[in-house]
Amino acid sequence: MKKVEIKTQITVFDTFEELSNPVKNLMNKAIEAKKDAYAPYSNFKVGAAFLLDDGTIVTGNNQENAAYPSGMCAERVAIWKVSSEYPTHKILKLAITASSSTQLTKEPVAPCGACRQTLSEYELKQKDKIEVYFMGEVGKIIKTNSLLDLLPIAFDKSFL
Ligand code: THU
Repeated sequence: MKKVEIKTQITVFDTFEELSNPVKNLMNKAIEAKKDAYAPYSNFKVGAAFLLDDGTIVTGNNQENAAYPSGMCAERVAIWKVSSEYPTHKILKLAITASSSTQLTKEPVAPCGACRQTLSEYELKQKDKIEVYFMGEVGKIIKTNSLLDLLPIAFDKSFL
């Protein structure tokens, strides 16, 4: 028996101003996309924006449903737009932001487990890492260099 330590590295930006201009722009697109989220049940709106290798930005937001499990997270709405409309493009970066109608979201909102699994598929497919930036409504921003930093020991096609 042996214990194995798995390390994940994140970068923390204390303020929006610390981000590079392309990332600020991408996060602003996620903030804009968030406004159109359809979230009448949770009142928690999420926006996601992907930057592709030719500069294209593809956004998405969460879409809820009266049959709750039929709704979908912003990240998966956006990644499936990317994969269906730009199947040969490489994804460089993802920005995520969220806000609640009941309280100020001060902590960075991390993508849920199902979104991590979905997104990791496309990172492995393109054989290049996707930088992920996530924030709340205000406050610090967390960056990871890869989806696999958010999902170590992932399930992938090698098992099939
Ligand atoms: N949500 C996302 O859009 N992305 C996540 O990664 C976590 C959760 C949405 C789903 C639902 O519409 C609302 O946030 C509350 O869970």
